[in-house]
Amino acid sequence: MDPATVVDGHGEDSAVEESITPRRFVARLPTDIPRHWLPGNEVVSSLLNAYTILVPANEAFYIRTLNACMPRITDDALRERCQAFIRQEAQHGVAHKRYWDNLDVQGYAYRRFERTVDRVIFRTMDRYAPLWLHVSLVSCVEHINAFLGYEFLSQTILADADPRMRDLMEWHFAEEIEHRAVAFDLLQAITPHYSVRLLGALTTTALFYLLMAGMAASLLAQDRLLCRKASVRQLVHHLGKGHGMGRRTLRHLRDYLRRDFHPSCLTGADDLAAEALARQARAVPPAIMPMSPQT
Ligand SMILES: [Fe+2]
Ligand SMILES: [Fe+2]
Repeated sequence: MDPATVVDGHGEDSAVEESITPRRFVARLPTDIPRHWLPGNEVVSSLLNAYTILVPANEAFYIRTLNACMPRITDDALRERCQAFIRQEAQHGVAHKRYWDNLDVQGYAYRRFERTVDRVIFRTMDRYAPLWLHVSLVSCVEHINAFLGYEFLSQTILADADPRMRDLMEWHFAEEIEHRAVAFDLLQAITPHYSVRLLGALTTTALFYLLMAGMAASLLAQDRLLCRKASVRQLVHHLGKGHGMGRRTLRHLRDYLRRDFHPSCLTGADDLAAEALARQARAVPPAIMPMSPQT
């Protein structure tokens, strides 16, 4: 199958990214950002703070994985896309880590958890898991990143958020959409076996949601907000009829398990990403800046 044009899940042709532009997130992230930066929704604020905490180690693992694959990539276009992917992911880690200063000022304890996750999961994978499994894990988590981005952008869930955090998250989500097919196409090039995709999907899904839920619950517990009715209501709203993330997540995960799946099936995602990126590039001062090929 030509990775540039595939049949999507709704029976229409969808173009995969023609080029991937690495950008730097240049907006300031001062330490006065409120701890619950999505007003009235401490649960979603904490879930995305957990995402922010887990992003740097996660994305460093993607980068190590793609770098290790480079000698095996014979297709020049795929190699170029992998290089652009690596540059985007590296910037995501840098920007999210800048926000950690806020979490430190707010007194959250999270660094030991973050270091333990890196050592016990990612460094152990580096040592003992075969490269094909690494790529399969990255391919699946990239699908999760892309559909999270699609849901948050298409439902404008962050419309009322603190604008600095909205920019950080929406820039990241948009770039996840932009490069969503790279790891999947790499997996097809390295090992196209369905069983490998399945193993990576089961492992990644369990790890991703356990870590996110565990970290978010810890942040809410530190705020003494974990066991109260309003938090339960917010969670039900997010997963249930409000944002529908429970049902939508299951549907996206089921899509990934289809034998003919390709990331391009996220119809409409590219326009959402382009809009979010254009808005941030137009802002005065701009929140994001494209990087030159040399930087
Ligand atoms: Fe990322
Ligand atoms: Fe990504």
